[in-house]
Amino acid sequence: PHYYGSLYKGHESSYESELYKTNVNWSFPRTFWWGVASAAYQVEGAAKDEGRGPTIWDVLTHRVTGFTVANQTGDIADNQYYLYKQDIARIAAIGTPAYSFSIAWSRIFPYGRGPVNEQALAHYEDLIDTCIEYGVEPIVTLYHWDLPLYLQNTYGGWLSEEIVDDFVEYARVVFRRFGSKVSKWATLNEPSVFCNTYPLPAGYFKATGIPAKQQPFYCGQSVLLAHARTYRLGKQLMPNSTIFFKNNGGYKIPLTNSTADSLATQRAWDFGEGLWANPTFLGGDYPASVKNYTSTFLRPLTAAERGMLDGSSDIFAHDAYTSQFTSAPDVGIAACLANTSHPLFPTCANTTYQYPASLGGWDIGPAADPGSPWLHKATDWVPRFLHYVQDTWKPVGGIAVTEFGFGEPFEQLKTVLGDIRSDYGRTMYYHDYMEAILQAMSEGVDVVGTLAWSIVDNLEWAQGYTVKFGMQYVNLTTQERSFKASYFEYVRAFQVYQRK
Ligand code: NOJ
Repeated sequence: PHYYGSLYKGHESSYESELYKTNVNWSFPRTFWWGVASAAYQVEGAAKDEGRGPTIWDVLTHRVTGFTVANQTGDIADNQYYLYKQDIARIAAIGTPAYSFSIAWSRIFPYGRGPVNEQALAHYEDLIDTCIEYGVEPIVTLYHWDLPLYLQNTYGGWLSEEIVDDFVEYARVVFRRFGSKVSKWATLNEPSVFCNTYPLPAGYFKATGIPAKQQPFYCGQSVLLAHARTYRLGKQLMPNSTIFFKNNGGYKIPLTNSTADSLATQRAWDFGEGLWANPTFLGGDYPASVKNYTSTFLRPLTAAERGMLDGSSDIFAHDAYTSQFTSAPDVGIAACLANTSHPLFPTCANTTYQYPASLGGWDIGPAADPGSPWLHKATDWVPRFLHYVQDTWKPVGGIAVTEFGFGEPFEQLKTVLGDIRSDYGRTMYYHDYMEAILQAMSEGVDVVGTLAWSIVDNLEWAQGYTVKFGMQYVNLTTQERSFKASYFEYVRAFQVYQRK
């Protein structure tokens, strides 16, 4: 395998010079947007400051023992609530043209609804103005999992459709205030994750009586309706904006060429990306398999709702980290579907990560070529994935990779700053990933932008600070930031393949 000899021009390894010679015709279009990303609870800290109300994550980290590694919290995190000017200056200095961050709902509406906290609006206004001053485009996500606690306790949060009105009101306040300064908006981040992976522990929140296996779909319906209404409102207030939601999942390859494995793979797409993408890109309703499963308990979407949903995302935004081999459960799909208590029900698809390349369960490839010596080769699956998205959901405004990144749990064991900064696994990942994007574009996939996760090491949810995704290291004692090699590699992709 080829490894990076040096990151600097004039000292490229033979692999790199070959690559750049071969692909001399590749380039990004002028309109291509790119930058780095974060989310409020993961970086802000200042959890009790300036009127912020509590969120479900404050409860999960403080009250549910063991929910996060070592019960780590986002109370302080990277203190970006106070250090944003430095953070923006740093990313501007290295040449980053966009910063994607989320607004904490519970700062604007400490109770999720009701009184608006002007101090928080002033804070985000200055964050946005600072970005603009530095020539960094602000890209804003309205919801990145930090639900105001009051809404969870009052009606069960996303499990109840009551949340739709509250979310739209929150969006209205934010759009009105910042609509003239921000033109790219994500409504919601990765609903598959916040509707599935983080079910709220019973006893801490108002019981809803909805069976666990049905909850993701009640959550999903609220999410879709909240998204679509917010989208329509946003387009009315800001006709030139780009509004979308962030899907996630990954490229799924049948483990074998058996019919059962292909059926399982299709179900994995349906219950994964399709659950959100079919309603928004393919006519307003769920995939047939999802509709079929939910028909016994979930009310069907009305014709008006389907109309509102259809076409409600200007681009297909995907947080594309991984690929998975997918197979039928051992008992077979039919037997799994007949047994509602089967662990894989209702998806009845098994996903396996055969290359735990980033050493922490974060499989980032290669999926496509089991014989490949590469452990990190995004080029093996990213182009196929992008083709699949374009061919399946046909997004008119193109595809943006709104997050991609390399999670490294062993980085925490490094003690010398120079070693931490030499994150060659992540560096290779960014190199290969950008190559993969360019390849897909040269094959006709309309990729419009990329956002790398993440601007800095931060609170990786249940894994606390033990898994690092940052392209900058943060010393959590001094809050000092240091660029890692991967950041330079990401920036360099755009220097080599100029935007033309
Ligand atoms: C996607 C999520 O949006 C983000 O919050 C998380 O940190 C990264 N994936 C890495 O797991």
